[in-house]
Amino acid sequence: MADIRIGLIGAGGIAGAHARRYAEIPEAEVVAVADIVPGRAEEFIARNSLQGARAFTDHRALLERGGVDAVDICTYHRGHHRPAVDALEAGLPVLVEKPLSVDLGEALEMVRAAARSQKILSVGFQTRYQPNIQAAKRLVQEGVLGQLYYAEVGGGRRRGIPATPQKVPPTFISKEAAGGGAVLDIGCYSVDTAMFVLGHPRPLSVLAMTADHFGRSGRSTGNQMGRWDPAKFEVEDFAAAFVRLDGGIGLVFKIAWAMHLDTLGPTFFLGTDAGLRLDGPVLFRDEHGYLTQTNVTLPAGPRGFDAFREKIRDFALAVRDGRPAPIPGRQVLLEEAILDGIYRSAAEGREVGIDLPPDVLDPPVA
Ligand SMILES: NC(=O)c1ccc[n+]([C@@H]2O[C@H](COP(=O)([O-])OP(=O)(O)OC[C@H]3O[C@@H](n4cnc5c(N)ncnc54)[C@H](O)[C@@H]3O)[C@@H](O)[C@H]2O)c1
Repeated sequence: MADIRIGLIGAGGIAGAHARRYAEIPEAEVVAVADIVPGRAEEFIARNSLQGARAFTDHRALLERGGVDAVDICTYHRGHHRPAVDALEAGLPVLVEKPLSVDLGEALEMVRAAARSQKILSVGFQTRYQPNIQAAKRLVQEGVLGQLYYAEVGGGRRRGIPATPQKVPPTFISKEAAGGGAVLDIGCYSVDTAMFVLGHPRPLSVLAMTADHFGRSGRSTGNQMGRWDPAKFEVEDFAAAFVRLDGGIGLVFKIAWAMHLDTLGPTFFLGTDAGLRLDGPVLFRDEHGYLTQTNVTLPAGPRGFDAFREKIRDFALAVRDGRPAPIPGRQVLLEEAILDGIYRSAAEGREVGIDLPPDVLDPPVA
């Protein structure tokens, strides 16, 4: 028997990746699985050889009778909030897949439930364990960039709409399951990277636009993730935003599931003493009277390094050893406020302010 008994909530695609990582580590094991679709938890248990694990169709039954020490939430976006709050209220630590929630109101409830219960609420951004992002964080923390004043983030896929035509409701393109599109699905990684490296300054305002030209037209030439019914496409496939952050920092954010371009450009950070391009990373400085450009050689890391396994193991160890959440919900709440602001600004066609209540800002989260 492992130290930590895990209850998996949501038995779809990403839950399989979680189950495989739990099988690789000695500290935790999956003992219960819940999915609202009847039979899906049983099939998942059989497919992943989770001997002895119990199946449920309601997460509340899993919390009451599953015999678990922690839960790992792998439901579609709109299914993150309720099980997380219920688990925290039942006194159980929570790992929740990205994005934390579909809007700021849900995120506030989740973070407040964690504060009341004094249990871990951690968010599944495996990107935080990537060596280039770790290096960027360290260089900023050690003051190499000086005072940061601007960053650009965002990834773009030329044609990568997650169609999931076999899923009812469609996991990523329906309001019912996803709540939002490219911003919530992949934009959340970009915003997490920016805020992590910048040290989670408070977001102040957002000016954004979104578009859905590819999704609504059904144009799927070369789409790497299947065909979808345009009538069922209810979210955005593109967004761009300018975010004002505390400390005089500007952040430009761009994201695309589909576009007529190969890339939306590099992620970079500008400071008073140096600039940093995340790919590489490459450091730009004035040194010894010259303009220099330094390639940062990343450590090779242990053999078979797997950022996804790191996030699973880090959560299990934090629960076992009574450590704080590895990727705290309180930090990610600030990111959720930006994502929420993007949708509000796009809907209202103007810059919107971000108001956060004092209980989630104090003490600062960086
Ligand atoms: N970290 C990563 O690399 C990564 C990759 C893919 C997906 N994800 C995230 O994982 C989540 C799930 O994505 P997916 O591709 O596995 O989706 P999926 O549709 O394959 O699986 C989601 C499952 O959750 C179940 N579900 C929904 N609400 C539920 C509830 N209240 N209780 C129990 N079960 C419920 C659904 O029936 C479905 O089986 C998404 O939020 C997505 O953003 C993360």
